[in-house]
Amino acid sequence: MVALSETLEKERMSHAVETSVNHKEFFGQYFTSYPIAKFMSSLFPATDKKIKLLDPGAGIGTLSCSFMERVLKEKWNIPEIHISAYDIDKDVYNTLDENIASSSSAFKKSDYEIFSEDFLEKTSFEYTWKINETYTHVIMNPPYKKILTNSKERQSARAFGLETVNLYSAFMGAAISLTEDNGYIVAIVPRSFCNGVYYKPFREFILKNCAIKHIHLFESRDKAFKDEAVLQENIIIMLQKNAEQGNVKISYCNDDSFIGLSEFDVPFNEILHENDSEKYFNIPTKQQIGNENLTVYSNLKDLNVKVSTGPIVDFRMKNLLLKDYAEKSVPLIYSVHLKNHRLSWPQESKKPNAILESDEVNKQLFPKGFYVLVKRFSTKEETKRVVASLITPADFAQENIAFENHLNVFHVNKSSLSENIAYGLVCWLNSTYIDEKFRLFSGHTQVNATDLRNLPYPNTKDLEKLGKQLKSEEKWNQNLFDKLSKVVTE
Ligand SMILES: C[S@@+](CC[C@H](N)C(=O)[O-])C[C@H]1O[C@@H](n2cnc3c(N)ncnc32)[C@H](O)[C@@H]1O
Repeated sequence: MVALSETLEKERMSHAVETSVNHKEFFGQYFTSYPIAKFMSSLFPATDKKIKLLDPGAGIGTLSCSFMERVLKEKWNIPEIHISAYDIDKDVYNTLDENIASSSSAFKKSDYEIFSEDFLEKTSFEYTWKINETYTHVIMNPPYKKILTNSKERQSARAFGLETVNLYSAFMGAAISLTEDNGYIVAIVPRSFCNGVYYKPFREFILKNCAIKHIHLFESRDKAFKDEAVLQENIIIMLQKNAEQGNVKISYCNDDSFIGLSEFDVPFNEILHENDSEKYFNIPTKQQIGNENLTVYSNLKDLNVKVSTGPIVDFRMKNLLLKDYAEKSVPLIYSVHLKNHRLSWPQESKKPNAILESDEVNKQLFPKGFYVLVKRFSTKEETKRVVASLITPADFAQENIAFENHLNVFHVNKSSLSENIAYGLVCWLNSTYIDEKFRLFSGHTQVNATDLRNLPYPNTKDLEKLGKQLKSEEKWNQNLFDKLSKVVTE
């Protein structure tokens, strides 16, 4: 008899090769490898009660089949198992049906249903009319696709009380709603929901309805779906419906071989920091990082500092952009103007160096002063995600400056920071400590103003001290930023 793993891997690989990119993108269709499916199945605690398993967006059924394989191998003494698998793509129906039929036939008592229908549409209707099925277990790798405000998917998600921006979070919201109390949901999903404004309602939905039991990280961002061009960083998360929140198990490994898997437990307040109004989910990968006393830190509000996105959106003001500074214009700062944490303006590049004054532009200007700029988009090659640079009044002869939209700007009510605070922020934001803190909650290279607001900062006195020290140093490098910042973190 051919092993299940072999059958599923063969089918997955031929799908990966034979299916067009258009088809995959349309259905958000990237199948889970057998080793990942096996790992996901291994997370559920054993039970001796009837199992009702939901697999929404089931593909060829890898997740359900590996779950059944585990139950059989470990001889769980369950009276019965029922599987509900959904997939809207009619092309996978036969394979899905065959795989689930074959796996479930090994149980003494089992039945299954395959729904070749839209999971969100069907279940949101049933949920609204309270005629929905409920489940004890959910295993899922949902489709990933942005959903627009007025789309039917958004409306379906609303039926479950969730306002969300992507199919994967809508699927998870629906699955959580269909899970019975104390039931488990194991999902492999992009990490993007852990931070950012758009996923805040989804994080709140999870916190309201579930306990977070386990989070698994892949250390390299592209390793979970290595046979497909999927560059999203993915995590595996296990939730328990309406259960008490205790410690959270964190595990991580490099790729889907799960070789060298490390795991440890962290208290929940390391995942969700107390008083974090944005409800970011932090995922520590090193045991020591969260162990310091966070109360010694301030936030930007305490420092009376603000951070905003650079207000000049250049493509909306094309006719005002100038290659070189001229009369009646102001310096316009882009990322290309930041070199070695300082300003290097003007630059010979494709980007403009100035923008003509106009009523619209004048409203967006900052007076000459001390500012700290952090690029919103770092490249994948850059070793650090948070890269901060200093602007000083001596950098320009002009009275005003304009900041382009790909930058985050630290300021005090749209005017200058104090000199020491500006230097202090440059040192602090460039420290390895901050880079590690950032990576706790973000898997992408994008750095938004909300993310920067959510980082810890030293108190005013310590930050000014850092600033004075950095100012007295001529050569800035990573060692210096780390050496000076250590005084605060230790
Ligand atoms: C990321 S794939 C994962 C497949 C499978 N769970 C696995 O892990 O290999 C997501 C699946 O969801 C299906 N899908 C997309 N939109 C759907 C919808 N609205 N309802 C049901 N299935 C959907 C796609 O056809 C695709 O097979």
